[in-house]
Amino acid sequence: DNMHLPNMNDAKIRNQSKVNYIYENRESNDLFKGKKYFIKTYGCQMNVHDSEEISALIESLGYIKTDVLEEADFIILNTCAIRENAHDKVFGFLGRCKHLKKEKKDIIIGLCGCMAQEESVVNEIREKHPYIDIVFGTHNMNDLPKMLTNYYGKQDIEVYSKEGDVIEFGNLYKRDSNISAWVNIMYGCDKFCTYCIVPYTRGKQRSRKSEDIIKEVNELKEAGYKEITLLGQNVNAYGKDLDDVSFARLLELVSDTGIPRIRFVTSHPWDFTDEMIDVIAERDNIMPYIHLPLQSGSSRILKLMGRRYSKDDYLTLYNKIRSKVKDVSITTDIIVGFPGETREDFEDTLKVVNECKYDGAFTFIFSPRENTPAASFEDNVSLKEKEDRLHELNELINKYSKESNLKMLNKSVKVLITGVSEKDDTKVCGYTENMKLVNVDAPKEDIGKIINVKITDAKSFSLDGIKES
Ligand code: SAH
Ligand code: SF4
Ligand code: F3S
Repeated sequence: DNMHLPNMNDAKIRNQSKVNYIYENRESNDLFKGKKYFIKTYGCQMNVHDSEEISALIESLGYIKTDVLEEADFIILNTCAIRENAHDKVFGFLGRCKHLKKEKKDIIIGLCGCMAQEESVVNEIREKHPYIDIVFGTHNMNDLPKMLTNYYGKQDIEVYSKEGDVIEFGNLYKRDSNISAWVNIMYGCDKFCTYCIVPYTRGKQRSRKSEDIIKEVNELKEAGYKEITLLGQNVNAYGKDLDDVSFARLLELVSDTGIPRIRFVTSHPWDFTDEMIDVIAERDNIMPYIHLPLQSGSSRILKLMGRRYSKDDYLTLYNKIRSKVKDVSITTDIIVGFPGETREDFEDTLKVVNECKYDGAFTFIFSPRENTPAASFEDNVSLKEKEDRLHELNELINKYSKESNLKMLNKSVKVLITGVSEKDDTKVCGYTENMKLVNVDAPKEDIGKIINVKITDAKSFSLDGIKES
């Protein structure tokens, strides 16, 4: 049994070698030279960005990326634990990997990310999934090169229960895009909403130093990036764990770099200050798009969720943002079927949706998560009822997102072109400042540029447009 649960100091020492490890091993190690790796990422943007770090670590050993699963010598799954169905998806995919391993015996299969921080998952892997070779957690991604080099055919599980300090990764990330980049501003979360597993899988909140963030943004700008998205589970709490600037001030500093587009996710309605709203409203390179998770429109349920705001607090904030930030888009997250949610509670949620008329929303059925308080709350709402509520909510959400898209018709907007359109490969696509996806009639040379576009058609989830001269 090599499950590894050292104390925090131990984690710190190991973390410090992260960047050095890459340099030390870049040239010297040819054990894996030319071998191929396949990475599959589940979950939120933070995981997507972690995969860019994991890819850099794997490539430091000489591996080359492949998008074809069957070609891979190393398969790594970066997992999410937010809802139960994430678990089912991962083990479904692992079934395919297990099958591949029957034909190609020396494939190495790895699993990391938030699921690896769940004790029950680790036990399940140890007991039922011997073909998974390497497991590491969210606090020790940098152990991967060492785990791969030392792997000798015996399942190796190394997961830390506690977070270490923030260690700079520099600009070594193997980024998916050379136009738009993710920038971590903080790790973990201290909010402990009663339904949520994130504080357990990601540890307590740790902010990056503002000077390190600004340095990274400047380097990205130098490298030609047009857009950055600041990442954190709760960006408005940025800096509170350090003696550093507030999020509003950080936004100003990032804006001062002159990078053309700045976005951020996720902002919690708690602690969303007037200063933040003012900075977003004033600065042209801070995009008018805010993801503002509601979770529930019932103040009673919000209290049970531990969200620290009431329905009225939320609406006041929402209306303030709408009135101050020109052409702002606001999207949200909503959970239905929280334990004990009555029909009245659910109708309160519908009322808030009717008032906010969101540009879009992610909606979920409550999923009980290991060790969270809400998992043991009494739940007397049937699954059928929850599914009906989700369906009813989605109809309303879709109606408003279509309406908000229709408002864009015939407008002239700025679009950052990021690639070829998925629907029609004669077109390109990109996002407006307020985060609407547009398929544009424009030449491929415009990829990477911000161009003026006239909106010609509005669908439920995207817009069509043509390039203006
Ligand atoms: N930090 C963000 C949320 C990150 S998780 C915030 O506080 O807003 C993304 C979304 O997943 C949440 O907003 C919530 O709507 C949903 N979610 C989290 N835990 C869940 C659970 N146990 N069941 C169902 N949905 C959940
Ligand atoms: Fe989860 Fe709440 Fe933290 Fe968001 S703020 S990650 S919902 S605990
Ligand atoms: Fe999932 Fe972990 Fe993100 S649980 S949503 S990948 S922080």
